[in-house]
Amino acid sequence: MISILAPLVRGICIHAAKAPRIVITGQGPEPQNALTVDLDSAFKKDNSGAEIFHEEEAAKILNEAYAAWEFEITPSGAERSEAECAETVNKQPSSIVLKRGAKTLGIFWIDRDIDAARNRQKNGDDALLEERSGRKPGGEFFSPDLSAANRSCVVKNRVAVVTGGAQGFGEQISLGLAASGALVFIADLNLKGAEALAGKINDSLGRTAAIPVQADITSETSMEALFAFVAEQAGGLDLCICNAGVLQAGSVMEQKLESFKFTTEVNYVGYFITAKYASRILRLQHLTALQWKTDIIQINSKSGLEGSNKNGAYAGSKFGGLGLTASFALELVEYNIKVNSICPGNFFDGPLWADPEKGLFVQYLRAGKVSGARTVADVKAYYEDRVPMKRGCEGPDVMRAIYYVVEQKYETGQAVPVTGGQVMLH
Ligand SMILES: NC(=O)c1ccc[n+]([C@@H]2O[C@H](COP(=O)([O-])OP(=O)(O)OC[C@H]3O[C@@H](n4cnc5c(N)ncnc54)[C@H](O)[C@@H]3O)[C@@H](O)[C@H]2O)c1
Repeated sequence: MISILAPLVRGICIHAAKAPRIVITGQGPEPQNALTVDLDSAFKKDNSGAEIFHEEEAAKILNEAYAAWEFEITPSGAERSEAECAETVNKQPSSIVLKRGAKTLGIFWIDRDIDAARNRQKNGDDALLEERSGRKPGGEFFSPDLSAANRSCVVKNRVAVVTGGAQGFGEQISLGLAASGALVFIADLNLKGAEALAGKINDSLGRTAAIPVQADITSETSMEALFAFVAEQAGGLDLCICNAGVLQAGSVMEQKLESFKFTTEVNYVGYFITAKYASRILRLQHLTALQWKTDIIQINSKSGLEGSNKNGAYAGSKFGGLGLTASFALELVEYNIKVNSICPGNFFDGPLWADPEKGLFVQYLRAGKVSGARTVADVKAYYEDRVPMKRGCEGPDVMRAIYYVVEQKYETGQAVPVTGGQVMLH
């Protein structure tokens, strides 16, 4: 139940702040300054007499309760001039209590980042959150927001999930998002790797910027649990990076069916399962934060844009991923969820290519795939030379594409190439 209530609460907080918020679940005595909301009338009976929780009804009750609370705190706000509003201190609740009659359904603590929210909960600090927002209470921002400077700010304080986040591109993305101020759930099959990376990130930044979690994108149970965990730990989600993927190359005449199916299962089916459970929590949050845009971003590949010789399982799964992206985008736009794919070129310095024992460079060298190549460096040089910009794709290249997609307010369902000119769209 908390994983359903928390996104509704977080949506209200985002609506109030016009900024991302962390919402954590608390125990103990109810805070005195809390916005307390009774959701009793959201529990209804269906035709069979079974009780169901009506999410839309709960969102309506929460929206109305927040509007009444806001009016009580700043009753004269609607009459102020823009100049006065620029100086207005916008107050928001730092705790929300949801009740069903006398029963407490949940106590939620709110702040800008997870450490601050945890401190509030620990100290029972329910002082209102204050912000000079430049926003008319109950109204819209009037500052023009035309600057593209400091694009990395677009993810500051956002909650992100990165699947396959422990290694390779996923590691680069986890590092990049955390360094830009996001809270990143590093979701990977490899829990040890996720834990080690989260520890490194948190130590170097001196704050909780990464939380490791074991997850398998091919399992519905695992993905459902992942997003419930995210809702319980942070209240909701802003950005889901569907990065986990595998590559098993093989000739159409030789590749074993199980190898073909494995690649398809992870890259294609796994993307569907991840998007399925990510979009559920994003939809819930949307019910109370109608204006807030969120993102599902698939890390696709240049092999999703052009064929890949003796690598059909991989390229096919990535081509299919673009079909899912476009279709999910059409459906989820209703909830202000953008869905896009980013199609990087080869990450030559990542483990897939550079691993000294099982990386592609060493495999290609042993297989004599590059004629005349005597060393791994020869193979690498051959592949770099095929890129018009003469190098492989790197973490920061992908990060720039992520910032673009998140910042964009007027695009969805796209495949964004990051290939150094190797693939040019028509
Ligand atoms: N490496 C490249 O050159 C390259 C180029 C273009 C696109 N990509 C894409 O980028 C993404 C990452 O690739 P990479 O090369 O960095 O991979 P990688 O093999 O280095 O890392 C993949 C990570 O995903 C995790 N993972 C694998 N299966 C999983 C599952 N079922 N559930 C959860 N986690 C799982 C692994 O444990 C690992 O940490 C993939 O989608 C890949 O197709 C890679």
